[in-house]
Amino acid sequence: MTVATVYKQGWTLDDVHWDWFDPSRVDPSLLAAVKAAALVEYNAPDYVDYLKRVFQGAEPQTLADIEQWGAEESQHGKVLGRYAEMADPSFKLDEAFARFRKGYTPAHFSGKDGGSVRGSRRGEMIARCVVESGTSSYYSAMRDACEEPLLREIAGRIAADEYRHYKLFYDTLGAQKEPELSLWRKLLIAIGRVRESDDDELAFAYYCANVKPEEEAAKPYDRKLYSKISSANGAAIYSRKHIEKLVQMVVKAVGADPHGWIAGIGASLVWRRLQKSAA
Ligand SMILES: [Fe+2]
Ligand SMILES: [Fe+2]
Repeated sequence: MTVATVYKQGWTLDDVHWDWFDPSRVDPSLLAAVKAAALVEYNAPDYVDYLKRVFQGAEPQTLADIEQWGAEESQHGKVLGRYAEMADPSFKLDEAFARFRKGYTPAHFSGKDGGSVRGSRRGEMIARCVVESGTSSYYSAMRDACEEPLLREIAGRIAADEYRHYKLFYDTLGAQKEPELSLWRKLLIAIGRVRESDDDELAFAYYCANVKPEEEAAKPYDRKLYSKISSANGAAIYSRKHIEKLVQMVVKAVGADPHGWIAGIGASLVWRRLQKSAA
């Protein structure tokens, strides 16, 4: 994957070429996607706490890796938020994020019993690989669809981080001493995680990021409607090669051949579904 070689790990907001910004080339639908993504990324600390509970008592290096991963996800939120504030001065990351936090808490993060909602650490790592496959291909697609130079750079930097996150969780998956799961069990976990992407999180983030507080009364949150709008907005930026890469990464995470028939059928199904959402 070439993006991983372009931008090295450990970059900060100071490394970004903010002066490359060209307001005349901002695409409004990409900007709407950037605002929504900023809120989801900025919410990473909850996920860090959850994963640390799942890995309680694990090697110190694993816990340090989780902290580092969370810091990078939060930085994605910050960099996307700062970009959105530049492109649309009426957007305020902190304000939109506060509304998002107030209205959205994933059920399993509020549980206190520790343990993974996927049933095991291996299952949890497969679910994380699914998410990182999704974000890695999403920001690659955003980079390739974007004509505005600053956002191209930012999306490229984030895509490279997301690919490294995938590798981190893939390696952590292989390092677990728990018994290996069957292929079907792993596939069910992966499909379950993909289906969760249809949940409230993305739709509500899109709403809070793109409907201003003063417009709320006239445009109340409608989960079905905003889920449709945010899916259509996201689907429009992909090309088939990004979907093929996404499916190959997921298929590899479940231990099947990334170039075999499961990946082939999976890519066709996802591509067809995406084209429906984009329509
Ligand atoms: Fe991220
Ligand atoms: Fe990530």
